[in-house]
Amino acid sequence: MPRLSAWFIRASLIYLLMGFTLGALLLANNGVEFMPSAWALLPAHVEFTLVGWIVQLALGTAYWILPRHTNGPARGSLALGWASFGLFNLGILLAASSGLLPGTFQLAGRILQMLAAGLLAVLFWPRVKAYGL
Ligand code: HEM
Repeated sequence: MPRLSAWFIRASLIYLLMGFTLGALLLANNGVEFMPSAWALLPAHVEFTLVGWIVQLALGTAYWILPRHTNGPARGSLALGWASFGLFNLGILLAASSGLLPGTFQLAGRILQMLAAGLLAVLFWPRVKAYGL
């Protein structure tokens, strides 16, 4: 597995842990309310599980598994790949900051995530092809 995929997948597992921990906290708090402000954690729970874990796991696996180029770098520009990893993860943290930071930060987070997805689309597009092409 390429190093970039390993980092995408490691990060996704960290988000799985954090997302489930927040979910467990919300669930427990639904039963016996011990933290009145717990609902403020819902956006972070949703962001960590859906984007941090599920989407990130898919992206890291796609980077690894899609057909490689036969000429030049096997998976396209490494710099673009790492830039996308950094932007995506910064975007998740900012997007999850709802309730902690002003709305501009969540907007910035979504913009970073879209930029990261755009970079990956540039890397992935030429690698989506049938056998023998
Ligand atoms: C793949 C894993 C998961 C995903 C994608 C996910 C996603 C979501 C989403 C989208 C919501 C918001 C629902 C809404 O606003 O109506 C939510 C709420 C919630 N989740 Fe999760 N979740 C996951 C795992 C878990 C786990 C493992 C737990 C508990 C251990 C948990 C506990 C909760 C609780 C307590 C709520 C609030 C439900 C309520 O409105 O009363 N989630 N989750």
